[in-house]
Amino acid sequence: MQINVDGARIVADLEKLATFSDTESPVITRIVYSESDQRARAWLKEECIASGLTVREDALGNMFARWPGTDPAAPAVGTGSHIDAIPHSGRFDGTVGVLGALESIRALQRGGFKPRRSIELLAFISEEPTRFGIGCLGSRMLCGSLTPEKASALKDRQDESLDTVRHAARFAGPLEKVQLPAGYYSSFVELHIEQGPILEKENIPLGIVTSIAAPAALRILIEGDGGHAGAVLMSQRRDAFMGAAEIALAVEAAAKGTGSVDTVGTCGLVEVFPGLANSIPNKVKLELDIRDSDLARRDSVLQKVAHACQEIAARRKLQITSTTLNADAPATCGTEVVSALESACAEEKIAYKKMVSRAYHDSLFMSRIAPSAMLFIPCKNGVSHRPDEFAAPRDLGNGALVLARALATLAS
Ligand code: HGY
Ligand code: MN
Ligand code: MN
Repeated sequence: MQINVDGARIVADLEKLATFSDTESPVITRIVYSESDQRARAWLKEECIASGLTVREDALGNMFARWPGTDPAAPAVGTGSHIDAIPHSGRFDGTVGVLGALESIRALQRGGFKPRRSIELLAFISEEPTRFGIGCLGSRMLCGSLTPEKASALKDRQDESLDTVRHAARFAGPLEKVQLPAGYYSSFVELHIEQGPILEKENIPLGIVTSIAAPAALRILIEGDGGHAGAVLMSQRRDAFMGAAEIALAVEAAAKGTGSVDTVGTCGLVEVFPGLANSIPNKVKLELDIRDSDLARRDSVLQKVAHACQEIAARRKLQITSTTLNADAPATCGTEVVSALESACAEEKIAYKKMVSRAYHDSLFMSRIAPSAMLFIPCKNGVSHRPDEFAAPRDLGNGALVLARALATLAS
């Protein structure tokens, strides 16, 4: 079957989607449930309906656009990604997996393909941890790894509950209905930019992901005395920020200390209170991000950080409390989905490399309910989560073409 993907259409759709942002182009900010996120979803919904898909949204806001198969009772093949974007980021993270997959579906329709299994495009809600502190909120709930009770307890940075925020965005209904029944999907494939330098550096057009690293996020509260920056002697201080600084350095040392390149640790969020030059910090909130392809190694770093917090608290007479926001297992991709991607690359004579995903994705959770795999396209200088994030039209076309071929195999 000849499949012709319209790469220019993907580029145009990505440009259009990028207009739904709270920051001026080329900087993208599209936080979940925000006005721009809701406008983006409304536009995407119309695009899916215009392509003949039947669209539904669940109580959380996950969007499902289905191309019904000839055997409607058979578990569907899922594909998709996310369209929420962290502040001050780029236009390709997640969106390629939604709009590229939509073009894959259109290309199969144009080629006269008739899927036996329905093919369902998903736009997961809240893949980024920006608003509620936890990544992959939508796919976690779909696979049952986050309970409705725990989800309802989530609060955003303005202390608004998830239920208040989702209701305001017109997503109602009980969260109990979000989890998908067992066997809902027969397989799941996600197209995504690599968010790393390997494919570009090695000049390889596509990456087939065989495993996804294990992410963990901690929220650490450090409390001290505070006081006048001029009047309190150094020996009398219980400076919360100095404790936080030592914790951040301990994260870096623990991540570097495993000796594996696959261990990473970041202290990306620091809130200092009262945050004034002449007032000693009496409260600091840190959020840490620690990952590794190996679960035991990742957990050894979490342990080291916990010990460091205890030691720093005792020595500096600070109060330090740590909350684990998430600590997830890594994912191994489904062999049959990986081979469908491999044969699609072979059929289209496009070279590929098997690789690990250091970033996490909704596929990390979809792999708990169906054999899943990911297809990476290169991104310029490996950059992501920055406005200069870029994927070339040729790579977008390759990704959508191989995805289309793999979907056809999995849905036959
Ligand atoms: O952080 C991640 O890995 C993903 O981009 N949310
Ligand atoms: Mn991201
Ligand atoms: Mn992403």
